[in-house]
Amino acid sequence: MLLDHTLEKYPMTSRLKDGSSVLVRPIQRRDDKRLHKFLMAVPEVERLFIKNSIADRSLVQNWCRNQDFDQNLPLLMLQGGKIIGEATLHQRLGGWKRHIGLITLLTHPDYRGRDVSKILLTELLDISRQCGLHRLEAELNGERKIALNVLSRLGFQKLADLSDYVLDMQAVTHDYVLLGMSLKVDDEYAGVGD
Ligand SMILES: CC(C)(COP(=O)(O)OP(=O)(O)OC[C@H]1O[C@@H](n2cnc3c(N)ncnc32)[C@H](O)[C@@H]1OP(=O)(O)O)[C@@H](O)C(=O)NCCC(=O)NCCS
Repeated sequence: MLLDHTLEKYPMTSRLKDGSSVLVRPIQRRDDKRLHKFLMAVPEVERLFIKNSIADRSLVQNWCRNQDFDQNLPLLMLQGGKIIGEATLHQRLGGWKRHIGLITLLTHPDYRGRDVSKILLTELLDISRQCGLHRLEAELNGERKIALNVLSRLGFQKLADLSDYVLDMQAVTHDYVLLGMSLKVDDEYAGVGD
């Protein structure tokens, strides 16, 4: 796996704004129960970007068991064995967007505003640079005003805003917002596209 060296630093401990200690690490095969619990704690309107119905436990189990970190790298944040945040780096390994990573962020509703996403995104930025990515993107539905605000504070800028462009699981349309961030590429890793 290409990322082996990059992921050697995990599990890693960190501290939230409130001083409490947390663990950050990539997802593992046996995380399915706690991941399902975490996803079910997030209001459905906030997880439209998860393209499948996560009520299906076997789907979550499948995610945990069939990970390909070179394409999808989910980093988890845990406190006392409970998942309190998740951030994923999606990479296209070919094609014209191979230099652009796509990230998703999700924080447990009880742990928002404590730096969960900031810590996870900082890790993903570091990993993205080491992978030689030039840019990151994030996709949101336009109603996620807090997320838009948070992501702009974390360095993303609006690239596109399309009215009634995406459909949720009930086939209701929502505005689509594409955010982007430029990454300074470390020459040592700048091999994308070679
Ligand atoms: C968006 C989301 C991931 C933010 O997670 P979080 O862990 O609460 O964010 P953090 O605590 O790390 O905060 C990051 C920054 O945003 C600010 N922020 C946090 N919550 C905020 C709020 N409600 N309003 C305004 N700013 C806020 C923080 O102060 C911090 O800014 P700073 O660095 O200037 O201090 C979370 O609200 C969420 O899971 N939303 C639903 C899922 C979603 O829409 N994800 C985005 C799709 S990619």
